[in-house]
Amino acid sequence: MSVTVRVPAKVNVQLAVGAARPDGFHDLANVFLAVSLYDEITATPAADGLRVTCEGPDADQVPLDRTNLAARAAEALAARYGREPDVHLHIAKDIPVAGGMAGGSADGAGALLACDALWGTGAGREELLDICAELGSDVPFSLVGGAALGTGRGERLTELEVGGDFHWVFALAARGLSTPAVYREFDRLAKGRDIPEPVADQAVLDALAKGDAAALAVAVTNDLQPAALSLYPELGDTLAAGRAAGALAALVSGSGPTTAFLATDAKSASDIAGVLRASGTCRDVRTAVGAAAGATVLD
Ligand code: C5P
Repeated sequence: MSVTVRVPAKVNVQLAVGAARPDGFHDLANVFLAVSLYDEITATPAADGLRVTCEGPDADQVPLDRTNLAARAAEALAARYGREPDVHLHIAKDIPVAGGMAGGSADGAGALLACDALWGTGAGREELLDICAELGSDVPFSLVGGAALGTGRGERLTELEVGGDFHWVFALAARGLSTPAVYREFDRLAKGRDIPEPVADQAVLDALAKGDAAALAVAVTNDLQPAALSLYPELGDTLAAGRAAGALAALVSGSGPTTAFLATDAKSASDIAGVLRASGTCRDVRTAVGAAAGATVLD
């Protein structure tokens, strides 16, 4: 018997970042939108402890040791329920690695839900969300999906209404960016400036609720974008290529380096994807639609 869970990637349609806190994290107003790029995590009983395997185009970049969030999720759940984490976790990876799309977080949330179902632990949603928050700031959202405002370090979620489909194009970069490094660069660039408290932008929330892509396009912001561009200046060429191809908005996804392009409809997304693919400014291009459902057990 095994259990497979499908988990979406995310893009941040607003990422407002406050000053560094004493614990090193940053308070955020983080508007997450789940999109239809997925990892699938399969949990199978194992006699001999915890094992992680991975397949997919980026599989060679995925750590298979206990630093993998999927492994940490299984260990955290097993410890709470006083059992051994004897499980084989297989990750079919489609979300870009180190890309700013919460791929690692998706695997953590997916493994947690898969082990909960496999072991019959029956942890409630609140308990699963608590474990997710311990695993990482973006992990609770991977469980919940849809759209949500994350406050605190991003882990405290308020679900948001989404009134229609949003069509996206994602350009995958040649190399990854480390999230802590991007936050450190944010701190360096912010030095000597007054950083306001991060607050959710009503225009972003209204655009999501109406399903209005044109309104969302003028409202999207990402406070980590200057830091990501500072560490990876070539991303500026990718953003320019997508804008020239007719994207309504072009931005860095989260801490990057994946760049995200909002399109009017599926046809336009496919056209922009074609132009980006031919532009030579990125490694690969994907299209996706949001909002997508959160972590889901597959039959
Ligand atoms: O929570 P998570 O493990 O995903 O965070 C990775 C790193 O990103 C943290 O160690 C921290 O450097 C940075 N971070 C931050 N503020 C947040 C979220 C993440 O500074 N709200």
